[in-house]
Amino acid sequence: MKKNHVYTLTLAATLLAVTGSVAADQKLAQQKSCLSCHQIDRKVIGPAYKDVANRYKGDDGAEARLAEKIQKGGKGNWGTIPMPPNGSVSPEEAATLAKWVLSL
Ligand code: HEC
Repeated sequence: MKKNHVYTLTLAATLLAVTGSVAADQKLAQQKSCLSCHQIDRKVIGPAYKDVANRYKGDDGAEARLAEKIQKGGKGNWGTIPMPPNGSVSPEEAATLAKWVLSL
């Protein structure tokens, strides 16, 4: 009985951690001004993040490549407008953001 209770608590904590981290990733994108050029499900200046996730589905190297582009900028993949380098983004944050975009 007692064991079950602990299990339920652990499960609840895990669920909270998972949903909490998705919200945290979106908040990071907001803090780093990504969302002034990108929306999750529609193109603005940059591509919709869902379109990015669809394009690289099943591509194992995509996360690392996108993380680098998030930091250094990129051009020619989605149109004629380039993405400028995002200088305030650390390598860890870029990896987190790349993972988040690909999960959408
Ligand atoms: C000034 C506008 C602008 C800002 C700010 C911006 N982006 Fe972009 N982003 C773009 C444009 C434009 C493209 C398309 C570039 C291309 O065609 O290769 C793009 C492309 C991307 C791609 C796809 C790259 C590829 O090669 O397919 C990702 C992922 C991305 N942005 C994430 C981010 C993240 C995360 C941030 C915040 C740290 C961010 N962007 C900030 C304009 C922006």
